[in-house]
Amino acid sequence: MTAATPSAAVDVLFARRLPKIELHAHLTGSISRSCLHDIWADRKTRDPQLELEDPFVAMPPGKVDYDINTFFPLFSSYIYRLCNTIDSIVYSTKAVLQDFQRDGVVYLELRTTPRRVTEQGISKDDYIKTVVAQLREHNRDKSNSLQAFLIISVDRRNTVAEAEEAVDLAIKYQPDGVVGIDLCGDPAQGDVRIYTATFARAKAAGLKITLHFAETENSASDEELHTLLSWQPDRLGHVVHVNDEIRKAIERQDIGVELCLSCNVLAKMITGSYSDHHFSVWRHSTVPVALCTDDVGVFCSPLSHEYYLVAKHFGLDRHQLKALSEGAIRSIFTGAEQQSRLSKIFSDWIDDTIRA
Ligand code: IMP
Ligand code: ZN
Repeated sequence: MTAATPSAAVDVLFARRLPKIELHAHLTGSISRSCLHDIWADRKTRDPQLELEDPFVAMPPGKVDYDINTFFPLFSSYIYRLCNTIDSIVYSTKAVLQDFQRDGVVYLELRTTPRRVTEQGISKDDYIKTVVAQLREHNRDKSNSLQAFLIISVDRRNTVAEAEEAVDLAIKYQPDGVVGIDLCGDPAQGDVRIYTATFARAKAAGLKITLHFAETENSASDEELHTLLSWQPDRLGHVVHVNDEIRKAIERQDIGVELCLSCNVLAKMITGSYSDHHFSVWRHSTVPVALCTDDVGVFCSPLSHEYYLVAKHFGLDRHQLKALSEGAIRSIFTGAEQQSRLSKIFSDWIDDTIRA
């Protein structure tokens, strides 16, 4: 191999081998259909009267055309009803961690919304405690290549009291690996201004902030976006409907962006297809860019595939793809220890298909 040889085109196997950082993944949206099916089969055996459909029927394999109208009800009317016991929360969390790890993800900030299951006597605290315990157990096992941390989500439908409860839980479990707070949920709902003091309290407690930002046109009014930016977020998810003024403000504040290509294309959140995605804008900006899956259980495109898609549609070679993946280190929420662990992983990673 000579120094002048360009690196070979990216293929799926390279994208899988590449160490990757996932910063925007919703726990319940990341559960694979086969994992949901296992949970369903177990419940059906114990309770043959169970009325919930088999996940392979409710979410047929290959169906990924969920849009903003069909996506959110999928959780409230189906997945939450299926995963409603401590056992299923444990089982699915472990499976999600393994799925990311098998895909070559070495660092994960998973996010989830505190959930109460009244009929099972599960409180929001029980739910978060259970998820945190799975992440800690996973991180303690030295044979695991992935390290995982938690972000707690506030749903746009939450009352201020519910949002305050989410922040209380984030602060309570901060010593156990909760690193930040998120604002998510149906972008057609809610008035974000009501959470201003809640997010200020989270920030004052040392939690990092990430926000779903300008996902749809009706969550992209100047007023909403200026309110969200005034919270001084550390990262923003999606950033679809942003004008030049907002884009410059994001660059001035050096806020990392979390870009979810397949989700945006499949849910028709952008006009056109992959090559029309606003990755083309952000890749040339000064802010850190992280490719993310959002909901791999729904859109079925693992993080390696997102990297592959970017290489394919934007012409990135192996060096550029590695640099993109490594660049996400800048915006992780955990700090110096994980940053140096990740920098070492990338500097030690020698793929003999990358030619110097
Ligand atoms: P959970 O928070 O672990 O229960 O993950 C599922 C939840 O994440 C959904 O009910 C939504 O509130 C939220 N979510 C998942 N994907 C998106 C998205 O693209 N935009 C906004 N919220 C989302
Ligand atoms: Zn999201």
